Amino acid sequence: MTIGEFKPGLEGVPATLSNISFVDGQNGVLEYRGIPIDVLAQQSTFLETAYLLIWGQLPTQLELAEFEHEIQYHRRIKYRIRDMMKCFPESGHPMDALQASAAALGLFYARRDLDNPAYIRGAVVRLLAKIPTMVAAFQLIRKGNDPVQPNDNLSYSANFLYMLNEQQPDSIAARIMDICLILHAEHTINASTFSAMVTASTLTDPYAVVASAVGTLAGPLHGGASEEVILMLEQIGSVDRVEAFVDQKIAQKSKIMGFGHRVYKVKDPRATILQKLVEQLFEKFGRDEYYDVATTLEHVVADRMGHKGVYPNVDFYSGLVYRKLGIPTDLFTPVFAISRVAGWLAHWKEQIGENRIFRPTQIYTGSHNSPYVPIKERIDSSTNGLGT
Ligand code: ACO
Repeated sequence: MTIGEFKPGLEGVPATLSNISFVDGQNGVLEYRGIPIDVLAQQSTFLETAYLLIWGQLPTQLELAEFEHEIQYHRRIKYRIRDMMKCFPESGHPMDALQASAAALGLFYARRDLDNPAYIRGAVVRLLAKIPTMVAAFQLIRKGNDPVQPNDNLSYSANFLYMLNEQQPDSIAARIMDICLILHAEHTINASTFSAMVTASTLTDPYAVVASAVGTLAGPLHGGASEEVILMLEQIGSVDRVEAFVDQKIAQKSKIMGFGHRVYKVKDPRATILQKLVEQLFEKFGRDEYYDVATTLEHVVADRMGHKGVYPNVDFYSGLVYRKLGIPTDLFTPVFAISRVAGWLAHWKEQIGENRIFRPTQIYTGSHNSPYVPIKERIDSSTNGLGT
């Protein structure tokens, strides 16, 4: 391979064969197992969508009821995990807390049996069930409160909001939360999914797979962007300052958070659905002061950057939805992780089904046969060899 053939960021390089999801970036299409995302957002639930992604087909009524029941049964986390979380610094980022807690699950459920369908099912159920409980537990612990136990009478998303806000959510809020989880559940070979696949390909346990993906999702160029979007809207402050903000970003050649995508060159279809959900939430619970700033920003960026295919991505409107649902800004990415666990597990299962360890190559750009200079003869570049 020559340097000319090298693709930074592996852009356009296929990393796998997969039938889990499909994206058409030119036409703004996203499908999970062939079903368009807007259909799932309208008609499915997050757990049904997770089942579809992981097992490749929609469940029957009985299959879904069993799956939901198993997940409900496994929602609680061990007191030792809660105690471990109590030792985390309250100032730590919830994504770091989640990564550590997800990895810790591997200590408690250590027996690895990747050829056994019952083991696969158990790991899928535990991860989907416990991740929301862990996210909510850390939120309460860092506020100095005891975690709230899961409520068996509530659906997956309603229970998450209940554990987080310590009160039963409105049914519309719970349904909107569930739709957000559907929208974020899977998106082909993005950075965190690739990270999950690389980890999976070593045949390690699924808790390590999810922990490495959580670490990857945390970055501001990936899942961390929704948090950055809210900080950016607060920084802009008002509609009349949007144009100057965009022009300054363009002049500085810096990225505007919540815009642009490696694959989509039009508005992300999930952003379109999320924008409608924002408006639905505002109708019921009141407008967010930053919504007008956001829509103005969308228009100005489309005007200035549309020719480069830079439009809102999934993270642009999700923060406004989460704010209205009472979710603190630094929990946006953990909420993304709750949802994306479904996609990571689908890819984990697909990867171990036909595994070959990931071991790409490189183009070496260093020197050869370099001299080994004895330590006393080395020149300290920071002091020009003059010492301090
Ligand atoms: N703001 C300003 N300019 C942008 C933006 C943006 N958000 N995104 C892309 N561009 C510009 C680039 O500067 C580049 O311009 P150039 O051709 O003049 O150099 C051109 O559009 C192409 O963009 P790339 O950077 O090559 O796109 P890439 O595929 O490498 O990056 C990424 C995609 C990382 C998402 C990028 O758009 C970005 O950093 N966006 C902001 C962060 C963000 O919102 N991330 C969330 C993505 S969605 C998700 O992960 C769930």
